[in-house]
Amino acid sequence: MYGIVNKAIESLVTENFGAEKWIAIKALSGIDIDFFISNEPYDDDITYALAGAVSKEMNISISDVLITFGEYWVLKTGKEKYGSLMEAGGSNLREFLKNLPAFHNRIMLMYPKLTPPEFKISNEEVNSLYVHYFSKRIGLKEFVRGLLQGLGKLYNTPVELELLNDRDNGDDHEIFKVTW
Ligand code: HEM
Repeated sequence: MYGIVNKAIESLVTENFGAEKWIAIKALSGIDIDFFISNEPYDDDITYALAGAVSKEMNISISDVLITFGEYWVLKTGKEKYGSLMEAGGSNLREFLKNLPAFHNRIMLMYPKLTPPEFKISNEEVNSLYVHYFSKRIGLKEFVRGLLQGLGKLYNTPVELELLNDRDNGDDHEIFKVTW
């Protein structure tokens, strides 16, 4: 993944627990890269190793690391570094989710070597819809849960999430029912 992702994991840790904690986590991960460069692609194994080391060092499950990072990605990285891009995504939660399938097309203009997730929207009701998540990567559904919760907070629209399809149960993609 692009360095921006690894850098955001670093910021999440240092902002909340200090630089020392990050040094400990990086040592534990076995990654000996001093600085990540935002617009340079890195091997996915690096990102997974960093997330695993956060989980070990902080004594929290990998699911909780991914959920926390998903919220941070929307509320901090997205809002502070890509404010206009996020605003262009929609003026309320429903609109943003409906535009989600096309969202990473714009990001690919900045990061051409992106391996983006794919999203589809279905089953729209007055207060709910289904978000379908397709990915070439494994193990990131709880990151999506955190992202969706973060979007709920961003738009002051608390969400309830129900996982209807799960690759861990043999489905070919995940489906979250988002209710607000
Ligand atoms: C301005 C905001 C955003 C930026 C700059 C951004 C950028 C990125 C980048 C750089 C990656 C790593 C992929 C790679 O390097 O190959 C990524 C992955 C991902 N993004 Fe975004 N993103 C943004 C917002 C969102 C939002 C709002 C969602 C969904 C609700 C989302 C869902 C994901 C997911 C699930 C992945 C993991 C990729 C996978 O499953 O293969 N992103 N994004």
